[in-house]
Amino acid sequence: MKAIVVTDQSAGTAGMTLVERPQPPAAINDVVVEVHASGFVPTELAWPSTWTDRRNRDRTPSIPGHELAGVVTTLGYGTTGLSVGQRVFGLADWHRDGTLAEYVAVEARNLAPLPGDVDFTVGASLPISGLTAWQGLFEHGRLQAGQSVLVHGAAGAVGTMVTQLAREFGAYVVGTGRAADRQKALDFGAQEFVDLDHDALEDVHGVDLVFDLIGGDVQQRSAGVVRAGGTLVSVVGPTETRPADGRAVDFVVESDRAQLGEVVQRVRDGRLRTNIGTVVTLDDAVAALNPTERRQGKTIINVRP
Ligand SMILES: NC(=O)c1ccc[n+]([C@@H]2O[C@H](COP(=O)([O-])OP(=O)(O)OC[C@H]3O[C@@H](n4cnc5c(N)ncnc54)[C@H](OP(=O)(O)O)[C@@H]3O)[C@@H](O)[C@H]2O)c1
Repeated sequence: MKAIVVTDQSAGTAGMTLVERPQPPAAINDVVVEVHASGFVPTELAWPSTWTDRRNRDRTPSIPGHELAGVVTTLGYGTTGLSVGQRVFGLADWHRDGTLAEYVAVEARNLAPLPGDVDFTVGASLPISGLTAWQGLFEHGRLQAGQSVLVHGAAGAVGTMVTQLAREFGAYVVGTGRAADRQKALDFGAQEFVDLDHDALEDVHGVDLVFDLIGGDVQQRSAGVVRAGGTLVSVVGPTETRPADGRAVDFVVESDRAQLGEVVQRVRDGRLRTNIGTVVTLDDAVAALNPTERRQGKTIINVRP
């Protein structure tokens, strides 16, 4: 099969190459999926799991990409719940070869059925963004209707999902990002926007929940924006500050079949819009994943256009 591999962590996305690799076997409780579309998060190559297995042993050359939409071709020993020929979407394991390939082996429990009226490109754009937003708002953030949410990176792939889900749930949403992101963040439902290059984040006070998708200094300054007893949720590294009398949670997204179903149902009925930027073929993916201009929205690789 064709696959994109990485071998050298210091090379980043510039070190990606398109090669021939053997098709993966289906292990216990796995399915092998013929990948139709794949999603890629630009920071993946900084994640240790891209380079090592669960025992921290080198697993290069490794295939990146953790989001997929495709069709089940093979069931592993003991696999139940999915069938050969079924359309599916979901999250591939962090520590195994991923979805920038024509076939991927995934534990069946990490996938959900993809309804026939949702195309593969859209399906591949949902798992990480949709699940991260859902889990950050409702599980870790314990959002209540009527509360306020400040979303850092609101115009990005995850941020646009966070904004829409929070609004649907009855929250008031303040988005942040670069000056050029203002209109996009507002279009996806943010009611206010803080331009982090020109506005003072510290002018915002008393929000119930900060959802951090930027990290670093922006995260450090965020605990002070939260009301006493409120929550700071981050997916970009350990939270080093905590809101007064409140909680700080950093987490890594997990697959969840029921939540994938909630997300895709919202796309079908129009409550959620995906934030897809570039769509390319697998042959053109290495160039697209090394953009010369600023990326806008999620890059989707149509493996089987
Ligand atoms: N732990 C987890 O489970 C998990 C899950 C999903 C995502 N993530 C992480 O969450 C982050 C966001 O993911 P994503 O897919 O939404 O990425 P994305 O589509 O690139 O969105 C991030 C947005 O934040 C903006 N931004 C970044 N740094 C900024 C700064 N200093 N000031 C103003 N705006 C800034 C980006 O603008 P520019 O493009 O101009 O920088 C972009 O608009 C990534 O680091 C990703 O790895 C973690």
